[in-house]
Amino acid sequence: MTGDMVLRVRTHAGEQTFRLAPDAAGRTVADVLRRAGVPLNTRCGERGLCQGCDVALIAGHLSSDAGPLQDWADATRHLLQGCLHRLVAGTDVTIEIPARSLLTHAPQVVTSFRLDVPWASQPVWQRTAADCAWSYRGEDWTRDALVAVPALGAAIDVGTTTVAVVIANIETGEVLGQASALNAQARLGDNVLTRINLCMTGAEHVGHLQRLLVEETLAPLLAEALASAGQGAGHLAAIAVAGNTTMLHLLAGVDPGPIGVAPFDAAFLEYRRLSASDIGLSAVSLPSMVGALRADLPLHLLPGAAAYVGADVVAGTLTTGVAYRQAPCLLLDLGTNGEIVLQHEGRLWGCSTAAGPAFEGAGLVCGVRAGDGAVSHLWFDEDPRRMRTEVIGHGRPLGLCGTAYLDFVARGRRAGVLSPTGRILVDPGRHDTWRDPFHGRVILVAEGAGRRPLFVSEADVATILQAKAAIAAGITCLLRKAGLSAGDVAVLVAGGFGFHMHPDSLIGCGLLPGFEVDQIALVGNSSLAGAYASLLDSSFLDELRRLATRIEIVELNLEPDFESIYIDELVAP
Ligand code: FES
Repeated sequence: MTGDMVLRVRTHAGEQTFRLAPDAAGRTVADVLRRAGVPLNTRCGERGLCQGCDVALIAGHLSSDAGPLQDWADATRHLLQGCLHRLVAGTDVTIEIPARSLLTHAPQVVTSFRLDVPWASQPVWQRTAADCAWSYRGEDWTRDALVAVPALGAAIDVGTTTVAVVIANIETGEVLGQASALNAQARLGDNVLTRINLCMTGAEHVGHLQRLLVEETLAPLLAEALASAGQGAGHLAAIAVAGNTTMLHLLAGVDPGPIGVAPFDAAFLEYRRLSASDIGLSAVSLPSMVGALRADLPLHLLPGAAAYVGADVVAGTLTTGVAYRQAPCLLLDLGTNGEIVLQHEGRLWGCSTAAGPAFEGAGLVCGVRAGDGAVSHLWFDEDPRRMRTEVIGHGRPLGLCGTAYLDFVARGRRAGVLSPTGRILVDPGRHDTWRDPFHGRVILVAEGAGRRPLFVSEADVATILQAKAAIAAGITCLLRKAGLSAGDVAVLVAGGFGFHMHPDSLIGCGLLPGFEVDQIALVGNSSLAGAYASLLDSSFLDELRRLATRIEIVELNLEPDFESIYIDELVAP
């Protein structure tokens, strides 16, 4: 058709060709790709503040928001921000998208967890005689056969970046199905503050973010988890949801704006019982094999302790047993932010650190989320010029995820490749370090898909050191509050990294200052564990309510020592 444009998109998976109608002219590359089903990682909300949406222009022209029409045709492989560059009428374009810029890069979400406290079978929904399925024949509902069906519950952890769903028999506890995916809100910002700020610019954004979560994330995940369980939506008796305070506000359609400005008050922290229709969940049509969700399906939102110590951490404090252990212990929930709870002699202190999304690969040159194709771990062999890697899944690596960067800092220090301040040390015998015009000195880790070098830069190391310093300083502040030192305390590490971290790297990079490997236990997704436990044993809901009020919140920005500890922690030990 006259005026059509052709957009060729190269990714690690191959090349796709899209024929675009003339009205695509003037749209941003990010917008066009989203409509084409290839969404970019627009983590700053398309405000031109990040590199999440970088694409390389291989052929053709794009226009830039920064000025008049520009011809980028000569800037082969020059990276452009996809949210700031627009298609030009009548111009065919070929672009290449690095793996780190693809939102569809499937994340590895931790749906596994441990329940370290006893529970009694007291389901949040008690079955009655009426809770038997009616058999369906043709057009008629008949009751000629009462079919006993399991009472199912859906436990959900709504994270800033990822969402995990588990379908369980709430009488036996058996896990029947699960599913996980990126939170669709991530394309409007990769951290809670960006999304809160968006809501502050207009009330309509609250509804938009709620729809992204409910319609584009939760409904498809519930359908997938139910299908994997071989069950229909009609068998769901209850849903329990844990998550950080901002995510629960957005799920409930409540403006999280006040959480973003002092005094950082949440509109609600208490346990809430809603229904599927309250959040628009029952209105979403699910695949016919799964059927429809009941409008009155109860939705239990778990209670939080503070604006930045949410229901996810309170849940973890209970399900890991931290709340009741005799000995001092510390729960570190490592997600997009780091939330910490310390228990000593029955007292609980909690804080949140602004570690940012670096551990999820954001803001790092070759960083990707943990998922198929991500380098998850690396080691320096005895000859420090050689590096060994472990890649999730099969095939050539696409990028490095957070755990690999932690390994690099910890093991690079031990191998003499990295200075305490994060400089990459140049060994005349090695040929895998060089100075990159955009990223300073870098060191090669592996050859990725398309023979693209995957490397760590000094700027990446600085970003990781800042993130780990925030967490290390938070831990140190809580220990001082309690009059404890690191050697006294057991550490339970939960969250998005789940079981994939190597404790020696957590210590070696300085994230857990002063601790030893045998003090550390990995507990998986303790937030999801809290939602799951609440379905099985409704007394957990009461327990969580009490616990949420017991946690003494430590505002790190008000702690006199925090800044100096943070600065001290900005080095690799
Ligand atoms: S710069 Fe484009 S999404 Fe951030």
